[in-house]
Amino acid sequence: MRDYQIAPSILAADFTRLGAEVDAVLAAGADMIHFDVMDNHYVPNLSFGPFVCQALRDHGVTAPIDVHLMVEPVDDLIPEFARAGASRITFHPEATRHVDRSLELVRGEGCYAGLALNPATPLTALDYVMAKLDQILVMSVNPGFAGQKFIPGALDKLRDVRQRVDSAQQSTLVEVDGGIKGNNIRQVATAGADTFVAGSAIFGADHYARAVSAMRDELAEAGRA
Ligand code: DX5
Ligand code: ZN
Repeated sequence: MRDYQIAPSILAADFTRLGAEVDAVLAAGADMIHFDVMDNHYVPNLSFGPFVCQALRDHGVTAPIDVHLMVEPVDDLIPEFARAGASRITFHPEATRHVDRSLELVRGEGCYAGLALNPATPLTALDYVMAKLDQILVMSVNPGFAGQKFIPGALDKLRDVRQRVDSAQQSTLVEVDGGIKGNNIRQVATAGADTFVAGSAIFGADHYARAVSAMRDELAEAGRA
């Protein structure tokens, strides 16, 4: 069975109590924190930057922080996020002039490097850089907002990405982001994802531990299939 990881997106958290919210989802069994950075340029929304990442570290968060950059350009922010405590940094290939250089920058800072594929971004974006990827993020919504509906075409894309990763014999993580819920996570896992970002399905739940463990139960079923 694959090692499955659940990454709550703090975009859907209560920002007035961010530290407590992060503590609560980690105590509820989440594996890492997904940190959505938006610039009102690459995506039509604005969120938070490196100071907030640093604030979570200062608050005592030791779990991996999975930074998802939805900003353009990306290069200046990479070292800033690394200094602020990011563990993983993923960006969109359309948002940088030199994808290979930006990936090198991320790894050079000692972070895991990822590329994010929008619903309409072809897998050719992975060509020639597979060996430099620690994770591939398949967007199952268009980036910009929490609470959107899962786009079913992401399932075929996940199968294709999984095939690429397996045939390259790499341990690259296959992450999925957008509209993941207890009622579709099993199907998404079966299609090939191993790392699941969930914003509203976790932070919108009354009981975080119940929401996370319901997802784990579904993943266990996927593992048995
Ligand atoms: C969308 C973000 C996602 C989002 C997930 O641009 O990258 O991480 O917050 O939220 P849900 O799970 O609510 O779709
Ligand atoms: Zn995200």
